Amino acid sequence: MKLKGKSILLTGASGGIGRAIAKRLAAQGAQLILVGRSAQFLHSVSRELHTKNSNGFVVEADITTDQGRDAIRTALVAMQRPLDCLINCAGINIFSLLDDIETERIEQLIATNVVAPILLTQITLPFLNKDDGRILNIGSSFGNLGYPGFSVYCASKFAQRGFSESLRRELSDTQIQVAYLAPRATNTSLNSKAVCDMNRELGNVMDEPDVVAQVVEKMLLSKKMSDRDIGWPERFFLKINSIFPRLVDGALRKQLSVIRRYAQGL
Ligand SMILES: NC(=O)c1ccc[n+]([C@@H]2O[C@H](COP(=O)([O-])OP(=O)(O)OC[C@H]3O[C@@H](n4cnc5c(N)ncnc54)[C@H](OP(=O)(O)O)[C@@H]3O)[C@@H](O)[C@H]2O)c1
Repeated sequence: MKLKGKSILLTGASGGIGRAIAKRLAAQGAQLILVGRSAQFLHSVSRELHTKNSNGFVVEADITTDQGRDAIRTALVAMQRPLDCLINCAGINIFSLLDDIETERIEQLIATNVVAPILLTQITLPFLNKDDGRILNIGSSFGNLGYPGFSVYCASKFAQRGFSESLRRELSDTQIQVAYLAPRATNTSLNSKAVCDMNRELGNVMDEPDVVAQVVEKMLLSKKMSDRDIGWPERFFLKINSIFPRLVDGALRKQLSVIRRYAQGL
């Protein structure tokens, strides 16, 4: 789809990947609806990208609350035109051994990464352009690969992938497309210093956010969106994991002492 003038609601717009996506889509002339918890921050992103020139605007909303989601619904009603695309990008992460994670943090992560995008998608569906509406869920390579130290985050991304796949099939007799994009580790504030140090020690590559944004742009520009994984050898590793998970168990077992050391902050 051509992006000029297309209305695109982007959650996580104040984050590393969200800002990079917003930049690319703004350059294409899309009308951006930037969602996040800090209006001040979003307004500064909006000013920097001149999104107002394309009638873009900001919605201050905590997507885990009814109030936040209502603010988004109200904005969609006020727009008085169909929404062309929803990008579920907001997310949080926990890097810790399961034993060490407080219940509230687990609940918060599931509320942010699973419940909120599902409810937001449900709210958005009636507003989506019936002729070529798009829903793009930003998942993770950890949505295909359980990784020690990230059990709750991985669970949330597996859930997001399942949701995407089911909804894509549920809407397959309509013109609304649903796709899932799985970035690998990316240099943003989502990753603590411990995660970055661990990735360095293990030789895990971390992309810059624009690598993800470029793929998002390509997916939206394409006539037919397909799910995408970013990165080599991650793609190969994910394939092996789906066919021979025991092989991957063995490979990760060798990294476990390093992962545990960083996850425990030792
Ligand atoms: N960085 C990576 O290594 C990596 C790899 C694969 C996939 N991903 C996925 O990419 C997406 C973006 O991550 P990122 O790396 O850009 O992270 P980030 O820089 O930490 O940004 C996270 C974004 O989520 C928003 N957010 C968090 N909780 C929210 C809430 N309750 N309500 C509204 N917004 C909320 C934040 O907005 P405010 O705090 O301003 O509200 C921020 O804009 C996530 O879904 C993440 O899982 C990241």
